[in-house]
Amino acid sequence: MKQRAQFTTKIGILAATVGSAVGLGNIWRFPYEAGSNGGAAFIFIYIISVCVIGIPVICCEFIMGRGTHKNVHGAFNALHASSLWKYASYLNILASLMILSFYSVVAGWTLNYLSEAVTGKMTMTGEHDFSAEFGNFVASPWQPTVFTIIFLMFNHVIVARGIKKGIERISNTVMPILGVILIVLMANSLLLPKATEGLRFLFYPDFTKITPSVVLSALGQAFFSLSLGLSCLLTYSSYFNDRTPLVKNATMIATLDTIVAIISGIIIFCALFSFDGEPAAGPKLVFEILPGIFNSMPGGYFWAVLFFLLLVFASITSSISMTEISVAYFSEEYNISRKTSTRISTAIGMIFGALCSLSFGILNDFTIFGMSLFSLFDYISSNILLPLGGLIFTIFVGWIINKRFVQEQLTNNGQIARKSSKIIIFLIKYIAPIAIVVVCLSVLRVI
Ligand code: PHE
Repeated sequence: MKQRAQFTTKIGILAATVGSAVGLGNIWRFPYEAGSNGGAAFIFIYIISVCVIGIPVICCEFIMGRGTHKNVHGAFNALHASSLWKYASYLNILASLMILSFYSVVAGWTLNYLSEAVTGKMTMTGEHDFSAEFGNFVASPWQPTVFTIIFLMFNHVIVARGIKKGIERISNTVMPILGVILIVLMANSLLLPKATEGLRFLFYPDFTKITPSVVLSALGQAFFSLSLGLSCLLTYSSYFNDRTPLVKNATMIATLDTIVAIISGIIIFCALFSFDGEPAAGPKLVFEILPGIFNSMPGGYFWAVLFFLLLVFASITSSISMTEISVAYFSEEYNISRKTSTRISTAIGMIFGALCSLSFGILNDFTIFGMSLFSLFDYISSNILLPLGGLIFTIFVGWIINKRFVQEQLTNNGQIARKSSKIIIFLIKYIAPIAIVVVCLSVLRVI
């Protein structure tokens, strides 16, 4: 039988998994969520969610993936044959393709903005109305759709090359560059005139701002940002070797992902307060407000290029991880080549990505449950399928599968001290599922 692929180095494992986690979720979504939900108070709750839910759910996915060395469907089957559990894998695969579709649309926007930054169009002198420009761009019938498709073509080339030559190599190259860009942009923002106001907004919590809806937004953001609940980290961990320390890696991913989110917050809010932008601008923050700021900032051309390059790099290392879920499933469960399975996933992504993109323009009137296709995909996957997936993972690993197997995976067959694994098992069994149920119920507006 053909040997299953593996990541080759520890750094490769870290770069790929952190690459999956760090993406538009950190640089685009986190700042606008923090901005609309009270700043520091939101960040405080977010960090608690990452510790008590995020890290345990990552560990569940790692236990299933590394423990079986299979794709999500194979993993559920291997750990609990002839049961309903394997249907959970279909939810995961569905969620991964839905997220891939709308994620590629936003990633396509970032490609367009990068090209406008590089050609100097964004920072050209003269009157600009960035809100109107963004509105016209997303509503135009072909331009955003073409960028979505170009993005998916890049994504395709990387995934088709496989784990070692595609995913590991691109992550090893892109992640250090991403780190350097983040630090340079942060230094620039910290030197701006009203940087301290931005820092105060981010780090000086006003606990009266914590409401149930802030808690829920923070929980949802933690799921999205850590790539949780759709078996992304399960699939990646099926390519880990048996010496990879799971709890340590899970903690590192969560820590680095949170640091990147906070650095993105510093970059954006220090600039925003210095140029009198609106922190609660919502999803359009990065596309409507920031270009205006770059336009009035000294050296704006350079900072705009760096910022949008950062967004493109961050999105590609995340989109390849979403694609790998279905690619591993198609190729292993239906015995087809990796190239063909990648073609299938890319084709699905392109068809639904194009429809999501067009839902801002010519398909604007086509709504389901009152939502455009883009919003529907975002809503169903991020608000329902991800938390549900996370809940299933914690119940399956915490309550259903063999306890010895869980222990062995967390301690690498007794080679790692048991202390941290005991805490993780407690969080997996009790705390994480209860907290997730609270999120799900509130999404369904039951509580
Ligand atoms: N975590 C990614 C981000 O922050 C998004 C993502 C979600 C990636 C789900 C994979 C799976 O952008």
